[in-house]
Amino acid sequence: MTGNITGISGPTVRVALKGLRLYERVYVGNAMLTGEVVKLEENRAVVQVYEDTHGLAPDEPVQATGTPLAVSLGPGLLSGIFDGLQRPLERLRDDSGPFIRSGKEIYALDRFRQWRFHPLKNKGDHISPGEILGYVEEGHFRHNITCGSDINGSLSWVADGEITIEGPAGALADGKEIPVYHEWPVRVPRPYRRKIAPSQPLVTGQRTIDFLFPFSKGGTAILPGGFGTGKTILEQSIAKFADVDIVVYAGCGERGNEMAEMIEEFQMLRDPWTRSRLMERTVLVINTSNMPVAAREASIYTAVTMAEYYRDMGYHVLLLADSISRWAEALREISSSLEEMPGEEGYPTYLASRLSGFIERAGVVETFSGKTGSLSMVLSVSPPGGDFTEPVTQSCLRTTGTFLMLDTSLAHRRHFPAINWFQSYSLYAGELLPHYKENISPEWEDVQRGCGEILRKEETLREVVEIIGIEGIQDQDRLLLHAAEMIRSTFLCQNAYTDDAFSPLEKTLSAVKKILDFHKEAEKKLTQGVALREII
Ligand SMILES: Nc1ncnc2c1ncn2[C@@H]1O[C@H](COP(=O)(O)OP(=O)(O)OP(=O)(O)O)[C@@H](O)[C@H]1O
Ligand SMILES: [Mg+2]
Repeated sequence: MTGNITGISGPTVRVALKGLRLYERVYVGNAMLTGEVVKLEENRAVVQVYEDTHGLAPDEPVQATGTPLAVSLGPGLLSGIFDGLQRPLERLRDDSGPFIRSGKEIYALDRFRQWRFHPLKNKGDHISPGEILGYVEEGHFRHNITCGSDINGSLSWVADGEITIEGPAGALADGKEIPVYHEWPVRVPRPYRRKIAPSQPLVTGQRTIDFLFPFSKGGTAILPGGFGTGKTILEQSIAKFADVDIVVYAGCGERGNEMAEMIEEFQMLRDPWTRSRLMERTVLVINTSNMPVAAREASIYTAVTMAEYYRDMGYHVLLLADSISRWAEALREISSSLEEMPGEEGYPTYLASRLSGFIERAGVVETFSGKTGSLSMVLSVSPPGGDFTEPVTQSCLRTTGTFLMLDTSLAHRRHFPAINWFQSYSLYAGELLPHYKENISPEWEDVQRGCGEILRKEETLREVVEIIGIEGIQDQDRLLLHAAEMIRSTFLCQNAYTDDAFSPLEKTLSAVKKILDFHKEAEKKLTQGVALREII
Protein backbone atom coordinates (compact mmCIF):
# COMPACT_ATOMS: atom_id res chain seq x y z
CA MET A 1 0.00 0.00 0.00
CA THR A 2 1.35 3.42 -0.89
CA GLY A 3 0.12 6.87 0.04
CA ASN A 4 1.73 10.26 0.32
CA ILE A 5 2.84 12.90 2.79
CA THR A 6 0.39 15.73 3.41
CA GLY A 7 2.17 17.62 6.16
CA ILE A 8 5.40 17.61 8.15
CA SER A 9 6.23 19.14 11.49
CA GLY A 10 9.58 18.04 12.84
CA PRO A 11 9.59 14.27 13.22
CA THR A 12 5.79 14.09 12.97
CA VAL A 13 4.44 13.48 9.51
CA ARG A 14 0.83 13.49 8.38
CA VAL A 15 0.04 11.02 5.63
CA ALA A 16 -2.90 10.17 3.43
CA LEU A 17 -3.06 6.40 3.31
CA LYS A 18 -6.00 4.06 3.83
CA GLY A 19 -5.97 0.83 5.80
CA LEU A 20 -3.11 1.53 8.21
CA ARG A 21 -3.12 0.11 11.72
CA LEU A 22 -2.00 1.74 14.95
CA TYR A 23 1.74 1.17 15.62
CA GLU A 24 2.28 -0.21 12.12
CA ARG A 25 5.72 0.41 10.70
CA VAL A 26 5.83 2.58 7.56
CA TYR A 27 8.51 3.87 5.23
CA VAL A 28 8.30 7.60 4.74
CA GLY A 29 9.53 9.66 1.76
CA ASN A 30 11.92 8.87 -1.07
CA ALA A 31 14.62 8.25 1.52
CA MET A 32 12.47 5.43 3.04
CA LEU A 33 12.71 6.70 6.62
CA THR A 34 11.40 4.35 9.27
CA GLY A 35 8.28 5.56 11.06
CA GLU A 36 5.48 4.25 13.21
CA VAL A 37 1.78 5.09 13.01
CA VAL A 38 0.86 6.84 16.26
CA LYS A 39 -2.54 8.32 15.46
CA LEU A 40 -5.27 7.35 13.02
CA GLU A 41 -8.12 9.26 11.48
CA GLU A 42 -10.31 8.29 8.58
CA ASN A 43 -7.98 7.76 5.58
CA ARG A 44 -5.31 9.75 7.33
CA ALA A 45 -2.63 8.92 9.82
CA VAL A 46 0.03 10.61 11.86
CA VAL A 47 3.40 8.95 11.64
CA GLN A 48 6.24 9.34 14.07
CA VAL A 49 9.47 9.22 12.07
CA TYR A 50 12.43 7.75 13.91
CA GLU A 51 15.06 9.35 11.74
CA ASP A 52 16.15 12.83 10.76
CA THR A 53 13.41 14.39 8.61
CA HIS A 54 15.55 17.13 7.04
CA GLY A 55 14.75 17.56 3.37
CA LEU A 56 11.52 15.59 3.52
CA ALA A 57 8.81 17.23 1.39
CA PRO A 58 5.02 16.95 1.01
CA ASP A 59 3.72 14.55 -1.65
CA GLU A 60 6.64 12.19 -1.22
CA PRO A 61 5.46 8.57 -1.02
CA VAL A 62 4.63 6.64 2.15
CA GLN A 63 4.69 2.87 2.13
CA ALA A 64 2.85 0.61 4.56
CA THR A 65 4.55 -2.59 5.72
CA GLY A 66 1.60 -4.29 7.39
CA THR A 67 3.78 -5.15 10.41
CA PRO A 68 4.53 -3.35 13.65
CA LEU A 69 7.96 -2.04 14.66
CA ALA A 70 9.88 -5.23 15.41
CA VAL A 71 13.36 -6.49 16.27
CA SER A 72 15.19 -9.53 14.93
CA LEU A 73 15.90 -12.14 17.56
CA GLY A 74 18.51 -14.80 16.86
CA PRO A 75 22.19 -15.69 17.27
CA GLY A 76 24.57 -12.76 16.95
CA LEU A 77 22.93 -10.24 19.27
CA LEU A 78 25.54 -10.59 22.01
CA SER A 79 28.44 -8.11 21.77
CA GLY A 80 26.20 -6.17 19.40
CA ILE A 81 26.03 -2.38 19.35
CA PHE A 82 22.68 -1.24 18.00
CA ASP A 83 20.81 2.02 17.65
CA GLY A 84 17.25 2.52 18.91
CA LEU A 85 15.85 0.77 15.82
CA GLN A 86 18.23 -2.18 16.20
CA ARG A 87 20.48 -1.14 13.33
CA PRO A 88 23.95 -2.57 13.97
CA LEU A 89 26.12 0.50 14.31
CA GLU A 90 29.45 -1.17 13.56
CA ARG A 91 28.31 -2.77 10.33
CA LEU A 92 26.54 0.45 9.41
CA ARG A 93 29.79 2.33 9.79
CA ASP A 94 31.68 -0.19 7.66
CA ASP A 95 28.93 0.17 5.10
CA SER A 96 28.37 3.90 4.97
CA GLY A 97 30.95 5.69 7.10
CA PRO A 98 30.73 7.40 10.48
CA PHE A 99 27.49 9.27 9.77
CA ILE A 100 24.34 7.22 9.45
CA ARG A 101 22.42 8.12 6.36
CA SER A 102 18.69 8.39 6.96
CA GLY A 103 16.65 5.55 5.57
CA LYS A 104 19.61 3.19 5.66
CA GLU A 105 18.25 -0.33 6.13
CA ILE A 106 20.63 -2.99 7.29
CA TYR A 107 19.90 -6.35 8.85
CA ALA A 108 20.37 -6.41 12.60
CA LEU A 109 21.87 -9.88 12.48
CA ASP A 110 24.74 -11.01 10.28
CA ARG A 111 23.17 -13.17 7.57
CA PHE A 112 26.40 -14.79 6.40
CA ARG A 113 27.96 -15.79 9.69
CA GLN A 114 28.15 -19.55 10.20
CA TRP A 115 26.99 -21.06 13.46
CA ARG A 116 27.48 -24.62 14.55
CA PHE A 117 24.05 -26.10 15.26
CA HIS A 118 23.68 -28.89 17.81
CA PRO A 119 20.32 -30.64 17.46
CA LEU A 120 18.52 -31.81 20.58
CA LYS A 121 15.68 -33.48 18.67
CA ASN A 122 15.77 -36.14 16.00
CA LYS A 123 13.90 -36.76 12.80
CA GLY A 124 10.52 -38.23 13.68
CA ASP A 125 10.31 -36.60 17.11
CA HIS A 126 7.25 -34.57 17.94
CA ILE A 127 7.83 -30.90 18.66
CA SER A 128 5.45 -28.28 20.03
CA PRO A 129 5.52 -24.55 20.82
CA GLY A 130 8.18 -23.53 23.35
CA GLU A 131 10.25 -26.68 22.90
CA ILE A 132 13.95 -26.40 22.12
CA LEU A 133 15.00 -27.87 18.79
CA GLY A 134 18.72 -27.40 19.35
CA TYR A 135 21.28 -24.75 20.06
CA VAL A 136 24.24 -22.85 18.65
CA GLU A 137 27.21 -21.62 20.65
CA GLU A 138 27.21 -17.86 20.96
CA GLY A 139 30.48 -17.14 22.78
CA HIS A 140 30.24 -19.27 25.90
CA PHE A 141 26.44 -19.16 25.85
CA ARG A 142 24.15 -21.88 24.67
CA HIS A 143 21.78 -20.04 22.34
CA ASN A 144 18.62 -22.12 22.12
CA ILE A 145 16.60 -22.31 18.96
CA THR A 146 13.09 -22.54 20.33
CA CYS A 147 9.88 -23.30 18.44
CA GLY A 148 7.38 -20.50 17.99
CA SER A 149 3.67 -20.76 18.71
CA ASP A 150 2.95 -21.96 15.17
CA ILE A 151 5.20 -25.03 15.28
CA ASN A 152 3.46 -28.26 16.21
CA GLY A 153 4.02 -31.66 14.61
CA SER A 154 6.58 -34.34 13.91
CA LEU A 155 10.00 -33.46 12.54
CA SER A 156 10.89 -34.58 9.02
CA TRP A 157 14.36 -33.05 9.09
CA VAL A 158 16.70 -31.45 11.62
CA ALA A 159 19.83 -29.44 10.76
CA ASP A 160 23.20 -30.66 12.01
CA GLY A 161 26.45 -28.73 11.60
CA GLU A 162 27.03 -25.27 10.18
CA ILE A 163 24.01 -23.06 9.56
CA THR A 164 23.41 -19.34 9.04
CA ILE A 165 20.54 -17.45 10.61
CA GLU A 166 18.70 -17.81 7.30
CA GLY A 167 18.24 -21.40 8.41
CA PRO A 168 16.09 -23.31 8.58
CA ALA A 169 17.00 -25.32 11.65
CA GLY A 170 14.46 -28.02 10.91
CA ALA A 171 11.21 -28.85 9.17
CA LEU A 172 7.93 -30.53 10.06
CA ALA A 173 6.35 -33.39 8.14
CA ASP A 174 3.86 -30.94 6.62
CA GLY A 175 6.77 -28.94 5.15
CA LYS A 176 6.68 -26.09 7.64
CA GLU A 177 10.18 -24.84 8.38
CA ILE A 178 11.55 -23.94 11.82
CA PRO A 179 13.49 -20.68 11.47
CA VAL A 180 16.75 -19.87 13.27
CA TYR A 181 15.74 -16.28 13.96
CA HIS A 182 12.43 -14.45 14.13
CA GLU A 183 10.99 -10.97 14.40
CA TRP A 184 9.14 -9.79 17.48
CA PRO A 185 7.10 -6.56 17.83
CA VAL A 186 8.92 -4.42 20.38
CA ARG A 187 5.84 -3.13 22.16
CA VAL A 188 4.45 -6.58 22.91
CA PRO A 189 5.90 -8.31 26.00
CA ARG A 190 7.16 -11.80 25.19
CA PRO A 191 4.99 -14.45 26.81
CA TYR A 192 6.01 -16.89 29.54
CA ARG A 193 4.30 -19.69 31.42
CA ARG A 194 4.11 -17.98 34.81
CA LYS A 195 5.75 -15.35 36.95
CA ILE A 196 7.69 -16.35 40.07
CA ALA A 197 8.42 -14.09 43.06
CA PRO A 198 12.05 -12.86 43.10
CA SER A 199 14.12 -14.67 45.76
CA GLN A 200 17.72 -14.72 44.53
CA PRO A 201 20.00 -11.75 45.18
CA LEU A 202 21.55 -9.91 42.27
CA VAL A 203 25.03 -9.08 43.51
CA THR A 204 26.18 -5.75 42.10
CA GLY A 205 29.60 -5.57 43.72
CA GLN A 206 28.61 -2.19 45.15
CA ARG A 207 28.79 -2.44 48.94
CA THR A 208 26.09 0.13 49.69
CA ILE A 209 23.63 -1.72 47.45
CA ASP A 210 24.53 -5.30 48.35
CA PHE A 211 24.70 -4.69 52.06
CA LEU A 212 22.13 -2.01 52.81
CA PHE A 213 19.69 -2.11 49.89
CA PRO A 214 20.01 -5.56 48.33
CA PHE A 215 18.72 -6.05 44.83
CA SER A 216 17.18 -9.24 43.53
CA LYS A 217 17.22 -11.11 40.25
CA GLY A 218 14.01 -10.15 38.48
CA GLY A 219 13.77 -6.97 40.55
CA THR A 220 13.54 -3.36 39.47
CA ALA A 221 15.51 -0.42 40.79
CA ILE A 222 15.71 3.27 40.06
CA LEU A 223 18.68 5.55 40.54
CA PRO A 224 17.34 9.08 40.66
CA GLY A 225 19.89 11.84 41.07
CA GLY A 226 20.59 15.41 40.06
CA PHE A 227 23.26 16.54 37.63
CA GLY A 228 26.66 14.91 38.20
CA THR A 229 25.63 12.71 41.12
CA GLY A 230 27.19 9.64 39.53
CA LYS A 231 24.24 7.92 37.81
CA THR A 232 26.17 6.94 34.70
CA ILE A 233 29.23 5.70 36.62
CA LEU A 234 27.03 3.62 38.91
CA GLU A 235 25.03 2.14 36.00
CA GLN A 236 28.25 1.25 34.22
CA SER A 237 29.76 -0.25 37.37
CA ILE A 238 26.70 -2.44 37.79
CA ALA A 239 26.90 -3.43 34.11
CA LYS A 240 30.50 -4.52 34.66
CA PHE A 241 30.16 -6.44 37.89
CA ALA A 242 26.59 -7.72 38.26
CA ASP A 243 26.32 -11.49 38.71
CA VAL A 244 23.99 -12.01 35.78
CA ASP A 245 24.48 -13.91 32.55
CA ILE A 246 23.64 -11.16 30.13
CA VAL A 247 23.54 -7.38 30.29
CA VAL A 248 21.55 -5.16 27.94
CA TYR A 249 22.60 -1.53 28.33
CA ALA A 250 20.45 1.20 26.82
CA GLY A 251 22.22 4.56 26.57
CA CYS A 252 19.16 6.71 26.22
CA GLY A 253 19.64 10.38 25.37
CA GLU A 254 22.90 10.83 27.27
CA ARG A 255 26.39 11.80 26.09
CA GLY A 256 27.90 9.98 23.12
CA ASN A 257 31.46 10.11 24.43
CA GLU A 258 30.45 8.27 27.62
CA MET A 259 29.13 5.44 25.46
CA ALA A 260 32.27 5.43 23.30
CA GLU A 261 34.44 5.11 26.40
CA MET A 262 32.21 2.37 27.71
CA ILE A 263 32.53 0.33 24.52
CA GLU A 264 36.31 0.65 24.60
CA GLU A 265 36.44 -0.36 28.24
CA PHE A 266 34.07 -3.29 27.86
CA GLN A 267 36.13 -4.72 25.03
CA MET A 268 39.15 -4.94 27.31
CA LEU A 269 37.67 -5.78 30.72
CA ARG A 270 36.58 -9.20 31.90
CA ASP A 271 33.57 -9.93 34.04
CA PRO A 272 34.52 -11.06 37.55
CA TRP A 273 32.25 -14.13 37.51
CA THR A 274 33.21 -16.00 34.34
CA ARG A 275 36.45 -14.13 33.46
CA SER A 276 35.32 -13.83 29.86
CA ARG A 277 35.33 -10.53 28.03
CA LEU A 278 32.59 -8.20 29.23
CA MET A 279 31.47 -7.43 25.73
CA GLU A 280 30.69 -11.12 25.16
CA ARG A 281 27.79 -10.91 27.60
CA THR A 282 26.70 -7.40 26.67
CA VAL A 283 24.27 -5.92 24.16
CA LEU A 284 24.38 -2.15 23.75
CA VAL A 285 21.48 -0.08 22.51
CA ILE A 286 22.67 3.40 21.86
CA ASN A 287 20.52 6.40 21.24
CA THR A 288 22.62 9.24 22.53
CA SER A 289 21.60 12.89 22.82
CA ASN A 290 22.74 13.72 19.29
CA MET A 291 20.67 10.96 17.68
CA PRO A 292 17.01 11.39 16.63
CA VAL A 293 14.81 12.04 19.64
CA ALA A 294 11.88 9.97 18.46
CA ALA A 295 13.96 6.80 18.11
CA ARG A 296 14.85 7.23 21.76
CA GLU A 297 11.27 6.49 22.61
CA ALA A 298 11.50 3.17 20.75
CA SER A 299 15.00 2.33 21.99
CA ILE A 300 14.03 1.11 25.44
CA TYR A 301 11.49 -1.25 23.89
CA THR A 302 14.13 -2.55 21.47
CA ALA A 303 16.39 -3.17 24.46
CA VAL A 304 13.80 -4.86 26.65
CA THR A 305 12.66 -7.17 23.84
CA MET A 306 16.20 -8.44 23.29
CA ALA A 307 16.56 -8.86 27.06
CA GLU A 308 13.34 -10.90 27.20
CA TYR A 309 14.59 -13.09 24.36
CA TYR A 310 17.60 -14.23 26.41
CA ARG A 311 15.46 -14.51 29.52
CA ASP A 312 13.33 -16.99 27.60
CA MET A 313 16.40 -19.20 27.18
CA GLY A 314 16.66 -19.41 30.97
CA TYR A 315 19.30 -16.74 31.49
CA HIS A 316 19.48 -14.06 34.14
CA VAL A 317 19.40 -10.83 32.19
CA LEU A 318 19.92 -7.31 33.47
CA LEU A 319 18.61 -4.31 31.59
CA LEU A 320 20.18 -0.97 32.43
CA ALA A 321 18.85 2.29 31.04
CA ASP A 322 20.56 5.67 31.37
CA SER A 323 18.38 7.61 31.63
CA ILE A 324 14.67 6.89 31.64
CA SER A 325 14.00 10.64 32.01
CA ARG A 326 15.39 11.22 28.52
CA TRP A 327 12.97 8.57 27.28
CA ALA A 328 10.10 10.38 29.02
CA GLU A 329 11.23 13.64 27.43
CA ALA A 330 11.08 11.99 24.01
CA LEU A 331 7.58 10.79 24.84
CA ARG A 332 6.64 14.35 25.82
CA GLU A 333 8.04 15.72 22.59
CA ILE A 334 6.06 13.25 20.52
CA SER A 335 2.91 13.83 22.52
CA SER A 336 3.08 17.59 22.16
CA SER A 337 3.65 17.38 18.43
CA LEU A 338 0.48 15.26 18.29
CA GLU A 339 -1.27 18.11 20.10
CA GLU A 340 -2.39 15.80 22.88
CA MET A 341 -3.67 17.25 26.13
CA PRO A 342 -0.62 17.65 28.38
CA GLY A 343 -0.61 16.32 31.93
CA GLU A 344 1.74 17.19 34.77
CA GLU A 345 4.80 19.21 33.67
CA GLY A 346 3.82 18.76 30.05
CA TYR A 347 4.26 14.98 30.07
CA PRO A 348 1.40 13.11 28.44
CA THR A 349 -1.31 11.91 30.79
CA TYR A 350 -0.38 8.29 29.99
CA LEU A 351 3.23 8.68 31.19
CA ALA A 352 2.66 6.61 34.34
CA SER A 353 0.85 3.78 32.56
CA ARG A 354 3.48 3.62 29.79
CA LEU A 355 6.25 3.51 32.35
CA SER A 356 4.62 0.85 34.47
CA GLY A 357 3.83 -1.18 31.34
CA PHE A 358 7.54 -1.12 30.56
CA ILE A 359 8.73 -1.83 34.10
CA GLU A 360 6.26 -4.71 34.44
CA ARG A 361 8.23 -6.57 31.78
CA ALA A 362 10.83 -7.32 34.48
CA GLY A 363 10.54 -10.35 36.74
CA VAL A 364 11.45 -13.98 37.27
CA VAL A 365 9.53 -16.28 34.95
CA GLU A 366 9.07 -19.90 34.11
CA THR A 367 9.49 -20.04 30.35
CA PHE A 368 7.54 -22.21 27.94
CA SER A 369 10.49 -24.58 27.77
CA GLY A 370 10.24 -25.05 31.55
CA LYS A 371 13.37 -23.04 32.40
CA THR A 372 13.60 -20.25 34.94
CA GLY A 373 14.89 -16.95 33.62
CA SER A 374 14.90 -13.47 35.01
CA LEU A 375 14.88 -9.94 33.71
CA SER A 376 16.00 -7.27 36.15
CA MET A 377 16.01 -3.54 35.51
CA VAL A 378 18.10 -0.70 36.85
CA LEU A 379 16.93 2.63 35.51
CA SER A 380 18.56 5.95 36.16
CA VAL A 381 16.33 8.99 36.48
CA SER A 382 17.51 12.57 36.00
CA PRO A 383 14.96 14.76 37.79
CA PRO A 384 15.40 18.38 36.69
CA GLY A 385 16.94 20.39 39.52
CA GLY A 386 17.17 17.24 41.62
CA ASP A 387 13.47 17.56 42.48
CA PHE A 388 12.22 14.06 43.31
CA THR A 389 8.57 15.10 43.31
CA GLU A 390 8.59 15.43 39.51
CA PRO A 391 6.36 13.02 37.54
CA VAL A 392 8.98 10.61 36.12
CA THR A 393 10.55 9.85 39.52
CA GLN A 394 7.14 9.56 41.10
CA SER A 395 5.79 7.23 38.40
CA CYS A 396 8.88 5.02 38.68
CA LEU A 397 8.62 4.94 42.46
CA ARG A 398 5.18 3.40 42.28
CA THR A 399 6.32 0.40 40.25
CA THR A 400 9.90 -0.34 41.27
CA GLY A 401 11.20 -2.29 44.26
CA THR A 402 14.49 -0.56 45.01
CA PHE A 403 14.97 3.17 45.35
CA LEU A 404 18.60 4.31 45.41
CA MET A 405 18.51 8.04 45.90
CA LEU A 406 21.66 9.78 44.74
CA ASP A 407 22.38 12.74 46.93
CA THR A 408 23.83 15.98 45.53
CA SER A 409 25.45 16.95 48.83
CA LEU A 410 27.22 13.57 49.08
CA ALA A 411 28.42 13.95 45.49
CA HIS A 412 29.72 17.45 46.31
CA ARG A 413 31.71 15.94 49.18
CA ARG A 414 33.01 13.35 46.65
CA HIS A 415 31.30 10.55 48.53
CA PHE A 416 30.70 8.05 45.70
CA PRO A 417 28.47 6.18 45.07
CA ALA A 418 26.39 9.05 46.43
CA ILE A 419 23.57 6.78 47.65
CA ASN A 420 21.74 8.42 50.52
CA TRP A 421 21.51 5.75 53.23
CA PHE A 422 18.53 7.29 54.99
CA GLN A 423 16.24 7.93 52.06
CA SER A 424 16.96 4.84 49.96
CA TYR A 425 15.15 1.55 50.45
CA SER A 426 14.80 -1.92 48.99
CA LEU A 427 11.60 -3.91 49.18
CA TYR A 428 13.58 -7.10 48.48
CA ALA A 429 15.67 -6.86 51.66
CA GLY A 430 13.37 -9.06 53.75
CA GLU A 431 13.02 -11.84 51.16
CA LEU A 432 16.75 -11.97 50.50
CA LEU A 433 17.90 -12.02 54.11
CA PRO A 434 17.64 -15.83 54.54
CA HIS A 435 19.79 -16.25 51.45
CA TYR A 436 22.55 -14.02 52.81
CA LYS A 437 22.43 -15.66 56.22
CA GLU A 438 22.62 -19.13 54.74
CA ASN A 439 25.15 -18.57 51.98
CA ILE A 440 27.40 -15.78 53.25
CA SER A 441 27.23 -15.69 57.03
CA PRO A 442 24.67 -16.16 59.83
CA GLU A 443 25.95 -12.84 61.20
CA TRP A 444 24.74 -10.90 58.18
CA GLU A 445 21.61 -9.52 59.83
CA ASP A 446 23.30 -8.53 63.11
CA VAL A 447 26.15 -6.77 61.34
CA GLN A 448 23.63 -4.99 59.14
CA ARG A 449 21.67 -3.84 62.17
CA GLY A 450 24.83 -2.71 63.96
CA CYS A 451 25.96 -0.69 60.97
CA GLY A 452 22.53 0.95 60.57
CA GLU A 453 22.47 1.84 64.24
CA ILE A 454 25.83 3.61 64.13
CA LEU A 455 24.80 5.61 61.07
CA ARG A 456 21.51 6.60 62.68
CA LYS A 457 23.10 7.60 65.98
CA GLU A 458 25.68 9.62 64.08
CA GLU A 459 22.90 11.63 62.46
CA THR A 460 21.42 12.60 65.85
CA LEU A 461 24.82 13.29 67.36
CA ARG A 462 25.76 15.58 64.50
CA GLU A 463 22.78 17.77 65.30
CA VAL A 464 23.88 17.94 68.93
CA VAL A 465 27.47 18.71 67.95
CA GLU A 466 26.28 21.53 65.74
CA ILE A 467 24.71 23.18 68.77
CA ILE A 468 27.12 22.49 71.59
CA GLY A 469 30.38 21.72 69.73
CA ILE A 470 32.44 18.52 69.66
CA GLU A 471 33.95 19.31 73.09
CA GLY A 472 30.50 19.15 74.66
CA ILE A 473 29.90 15.45 73.99
CA GLN A 474 31.17 12.39 75.82
CA ASP A 475 34.05 10.19 74.68
CA GLN A 476 31.61 7.33 73.94
CA ASP A 477 29.83 9.58 71.46
CA ARG A 478 33.04 10.86 69.95
CA LEU A 479 34.07 7.26 69.43
CA LEU A 480 30.79 6.57 67.69
CA LEU A 481 31.33 9.53 65.37
CA HIS A 482 34.74 8.12 64.56
CA ALA A 483 33.30 4.68 63.76
CA ALA A 484 30.57 6.23 61.60
CA GLU A 485 33.18 8.20 59.72
CA MET A 486 35.07 4.96 59.09
CA ILE A 487 31.91 3.29 57.79
CA ARG A 488 31.22 6.17 55.46
CA SER A 489 34.70 6.74 54.12
CA THR A 490 36.03 3.21 53.87
CA PHE A 491 32.92 1.08 53.57
CA LEU A 492 30.18 3.04 51.83
CA CYS A 493 32.56 4.94 49.54
CA GLN A 494 33.76 2.92 46.61
CA ASN A 495 35.96 4.44 43.96
CA ALA A 496 34.88 3.24 40.53
CA TYR A 497 38.34 3.83 39.11
CA THR A 498 40.29 1.55 41.44
CA ASP A 499 40.42 -2.18 42.21
CA ASP A 500 37.87 -1.49 44.92
CA ALA A 501 35.19 -0.92 42.24
CA PHE A 502 34.01 -4.50 42.70
CA SER A 503 33.48 -5.89 46.17
CA PRO A 504 32.42 -9.55 46.56
CA LEU A 505 29.88 -10.21 49.34
CA GLU A 506 32.41 -11.88 51.66
CA LYS A 507 34.72 -8.87 51.38
CA THR A 508 31.79 -6.51 51.91
CA LEU A 509 30.80 -8.27 55.11
CA SER A 510 34.31 -8.52 56.51
CA ALA A 511 35.02 -4.83 55.76
CA VAL A 512 32.07 -3.61 57.79
CA LYS A 513 32.57 -6.23 60.48
CA LYS A 514 36.11 -5.02 61.08
CA ILE A 515 34.80 -1.52 61.80
CA LEU A 516 32.07 -2.79 64.13
CA ASP A 517 34.54 -5.01 65.96
CA PHE A 518 36.88 -2.08 66.37
CA HIS A 519 34.03 -0.01 67.76
CA LYS A 520 33.06 -2.69 70.25
CA GLU A 521 36.63 -3.25 71.39
CA ALA A 522 37.26 0.49 71.72
CA GLU A 523 34.11 0.95 73.80
CA LYS A 524 35.41 -1.70 76.17
CA LYS A 525 38.77 0.05 76.39
CA LEU A 526 37.06 3.35 77.14
CA THR A 527 35.24 1.87 80.11
CA GLN A 528 38.58 0.49 81.29
CA GLY A 529 39.86 4.06 81.38
CA VAL A 530 42.04 4.15 78.25
CA ALA A 531 42.11 7.60 76.65
CA LEU A 532 40.13 8.03 73.42
CA ARG A 533 43.08 9.56 71.60
CA GLU A 534 45.17 6.52 72.43
CA ILE A 535 42.50 4.10 71.19
CA ILE A 536 42.06 5.86 67.87
N1 LIG B 1 31.95 5.61 42.12
C1 LIG B 1 32.66 6.69 41.76
N2 LIG B 1 33.97 6.77 41.99
C2 LIG B 1 34.69 7.84 41.66
N3 LIG B 1 34.19 8.91 41.04
C3 LIG B 1 32.90 8.91 40.76
C4 LIG B 1 32.04 7.80 41.10
N4 LIG B 1 30.79 8.09 40.71
C5 LIG B 1 30.85 9.31 40.16
N5 LIG B 1 32.10 9.82 40.18
C6 LIG B 1 32.53 11.15 39.69
O1 LIG B 1 31.39 11.94 39.43
C7 LIG B 1 31.40 12.42 38.09
C8 LIG B 1 29.99 12.47 37.54
O2 LIG B 1 29.48 11.17 37.43
P1 LIG B 1 28.40 10.77 36.32
O3 LIG B 1 28.80 11.26 34.99
O4 LIG B 1 28.15 9.33 36.50
O5 LIG B 1 27.16 11.60 36.85
P2 LIG B 1 25.69 11.64 36.24
O6 LIG B 1 24.76 11.63 37.39
O7 LIG B 1 25.55 10.58 35.23
O8 LIG B 1 25.69 13.06 35.57
P3 LIG B 1 24.66 13.63 34.49
O9 LIG B 1 23.47 14.06 35.24
O10 LIG B 1 25.43 14.76 33.91
O11 LIG B 1 24.42 12.51 33.53
C9 LIG B 1 32.30 11.43 37.36
O12 LIG B 1 32.92 12.02 36.28
C10 LIG B 1 33.29 11.04 38.41
O13 LIG B 1 34.35 11.96 38.48
MG1 LIG C 1 25.06 10.61 33.26
